[in-house]
Amino acid sequence: MAVEEVLEEVAAEVRVCTKCDLCKNTKNGVPGEGSPHAEVLFIGEAPGYHEDRQGRPFVGPAGQFLNELLGSVGLDRSTVFITNVVKHRPPENRDPLPDEIAACSDYLTRQIAALNPKVIVTLGRFSMARFFPGAKISAIHGQAKKVDGRVVVAMYHPAAALHQQSLRQTVVDDFKRSIPPALAEARRMEAEGKLGGKPEQKDDEDEPPKQLSLF
Ligand code: URA
Repeated sequence: MAVEEVLEEVAAEVRVCTKCDLCKNTKNGVPGEGSPHAEVLFIGEAPGYHEDRQGRPFVGPAGQFLNELLGSVGLDRSTVFITNVVKHRPPENRDPLPDEIAACSDYLTRQIAALNPKVIVTLGRFSMARFFPGAKISAIHGQAKKVDGRVVVAMYHPAAALHQQSLRQTVVDDFKRSIPPALAEARRMEAEGKLGGKPEQKDDEDEPPKQLSLF
């Protein structure tokens, strides 16, 4: 199946999804959006109020900040893909629960497999936990690591930076310091045939994530 077809199939399923109770008090499922040819995939936590209203990811204040961050590293929103760990808004924007994350997990797995991005950027703790279980965001933010044949960078969530002014500069600096080199390194690795992950097939299961040499 073509990438576009897989993404549309996932989106159609998310829009009518009832796998967990989150769908009950929401207006829209938020599958994610962006280029099917994206080299970089951004994964946030869950839709908030504005995302639920519009059925689109990162369209509220955190989204505006994310757009600025993308611009600061020369990326346009239309060229990347943006999605979330959980595709329906949790009530009052509470943290997603483990069973809600588990219920939604297959959608993200299929999106990652279809997009086959060179770089995955996790935004916040919940998407970080998918790639770096047990890690602390304060310890690994802004570092590019190779996980399951992909380059993954964990970032603080843009909304955290909006609520905690001291984090704002850290997030700005992390984007500039890590995304362009991570993408350059991922392109180089792909050219050498060293990239190309399969999220469902953990090729270095027994090894901890590797830090890339350039950092
Ligand atoms: N926060 C997220 O994690 N995702 C969104 O889509 C919006 C805000």
